[in-house]
Amino acid sequence: MSRSITLQSVEELGGQSSVLARQRRDHEELDRLMHRYESGGLPSAERQQTLKDIFQLTFSHAFAEETVLWPALRRLAPDGEELTSQVEEEHQQINELAIEIQCTDPDDPRHEQLTAAAFALIRQDIRDEEDVLLPRLQQALGYDAARLRRLGTTWETVRRTSPTRPHPAVSRRPPGNALAGIPLSVHDRIRDALRPAPPGTSSARPIAAVLTTTVLTAGLGFVLLRNRRSRAR
Ligand SMILES: [Fe+2]
Ligand SMILES: [Fe+2]
Repeated sequence: MSRSITLQSVEELGGQSSVLARQRRDHEELDRLMHRYESGGLPSAERQQTLKDIFQLTFSHAFAEETVLWPALRRLAPDGEELTSQVEEEHQQINELAIEIQCTDPDDPRHEQLTAAAFALIRQDIRDEEDVLLPRLQQALGYDAARLRRLGTTWETVRRTSPTRPHPAVSRRPPGNALAGIPLSVHDRIRDALRPAPPGTSSARPIAAVLTTTVLTAGLGFVLLRNRRSRAR
């Protein structure tokens, strides 16, 4: 009987660099940011920046799941198709809500309603993954720490080079998401880099970020190509 990864020690998860420990750390960070947004008392600009940070982490995290983890679960587990379809649907709904939120003025009451709906879905997604999908993946990988760490490295590489904004029109599955992901990632990360720098930071930040994006995206292309080749063998 598989146990929720919420209840397991880091050692049981396969160590700090295992995909399960990495997933849990991101989920905890999302939870912290959502509570910060909901806590009240934040200045409006800081609150909206927190919302952007939540979506940025959500979309890069979810893209790497859709590209690396859920295809692995479908290959390894007989019920993988059914399990992954459900979380892909949650990801799709979060993408659609984020687009609506972006198009709504923060002073409009609908903005808060849509944000609350998006947070509820993010929390549901985290529960589904920590209680069902990730324990199932752990079981399918034979509780093998080395395999969990290798998958963690691949997932992290893709996460760091993934799109950071909502793209509801893009397929939630490979190869469609992987092919669209490379140009979208460059586009999103350039837009992120060109956001006004906080007071007191260097104006070289956008240039450095764009250069980093180009190098990292080349890395994403390499990882995706390697994964496709190894699956073809
Ligand atoms: Fe996750
Ligand atoms: Fe997810």
